[in-house]
Amino acid sequence: MKIEKWVVREHVEGVPDAGRIYEKIEEELDVNLGDGQMLLKTLYVSVDPYLQGICLDTPIGNHMGADSIMEVLDAGPDAPFKPGDLVQGFGGWRTHLVSDGKPALWQTGTFPMVFPAYRKLDPANYDETLPLSTALGVMGGPGMTAWGTLTKFMAVKPGDTIVISGASGMIGSLVGQMAKRAGARVVGTAGSPAKAQYLAELGFDAIVDYKANDTADKMREALQQAAPNGVDKYFDSIGGMVTDVVFSMLNVDSQVAVCWQWASQVEQDYTGPRLLPYIMFPRATIRGIFSLEWFTDSNWQALHSDLGGMIRRQELSSAHTIRHGFDEIPQAYQSLFVGGADNRGKVLVKL
Ligand SMILES: NC(=O)c1ccc[n+]([C@@H]2O[C@H](COP(=O)([O-])OP(=O)(O)OC[C@H]3O[C@@H](n4cnc5c(N)ncnc54)[C@H](OP(=O)(O)O)[C@@H]3O)[C@@H](O)[C@H]2O)c1
Repeated sequence: MKIEKWVVREHVEGVPDAGRIYEKIEEELDVNLGDGQMLLKTLYVSVDPYLQGICLDTPIGNHMGADSIMEVLDAGPDAPFKPGDLVQGFGGWRTHLVSDGKPALWQTGTFPMVFPAYRKLDPANYDETLPLSTALGVMGGPGMTAWGTLTKFMAVKPGDTIVISGASGMIGSLVGQMAKRAGARVVGTAGSPAKAQYLAELGFDAIVDYKANDTADKMREALQQAAPNGVDKYFDSIGGMVTDVVFSMLNVDSQVAVCWQWASQVEQDYTGPRLLPYIMFPRATIRGIFSLEWFTDSNWQALHSDLGGMIRRQELSSAHTIRHGFDEIPQAYQSLFVGGADNRGKVLVKL
């Protein structure tokens, strides 16, 4: 059958230039399935900042990888799922694909990684409040990252001050709302007054605009006002100058979760003060977050009942920005980096 896919044509460091990097091609897909294989149709594709690194590691001419929701159209007798099943996995920017749904080694990556086996989505878990698309958002990897960090590492207590960099994205906005419910003072960084307003509506106590405070001195002054009692918890997706300043404000027994490092990965900012001296006196604990470790059946169930329950009871909210059409994928991805003023929460594309 004829299918379409977006392939990587060029490796471009820094902020992605989607028009230059990606090319859409048509291809004849061999649909003679092996016993363990499935033919899948892509329904939704997730666009995420971390794909910038995946793209740089993707061999030229290969399709762009990404998390997706797919429907099984056909399946061999030994395949893990049957026609009609809905699954989530790293299907990529492809309209259709043939896969066995098994874990896939990411061999070209800068560090060894395995994309997990496709997981079956139970339609009973999704409805008008939490539609199927949330399997890529609040009920998917981003939700698991936020919920996992706060239930398995970061113990937010009443009276704590938590700072969240990159707060207006799906993960930061969930971490902030959950920390608020746990009794913390919640401070987020965001890149525009409109996004600051969005975070204020979600209950954030203070928002620091990282574009208006673009030097360490300005950032320090703004953060000291926003967090006058210092920082007990830091959820970091940005790194760079914001992180340099936050580290100098850490309190005794503080915890730092490193979710991503936008400044070094995208902006190639590897300079700054040595940060380890700042953790000695406060006895701070720093932990890398790699949410795939939490992708287990029991955690997915717990995510649905715990985080899903809070959303159903309207105790917290999660925004999803859905773009439409296969051709829109590169632009939707680009909007995470430039021109995404209207994006709220999780950005994904419905095919
Ligand atoms: N460690 C893990 O296991 C794991 C798992 C999933 C995702 N992640 C990573 O976690 C981070 C948050 O994920 P997400 O889904 O919440 O992302 P998201 O919804 O795509 O949000 C990203 C946010 O980054 C901000 N941003 C854009 N350009 C920026 C810049 N130059 N400097 C600083 N901030 C900028 C944007 O807000 P403004 O417009 O306000 O700048 C945007 O809201 C992402 O980087 C993602 O790749 C990590």
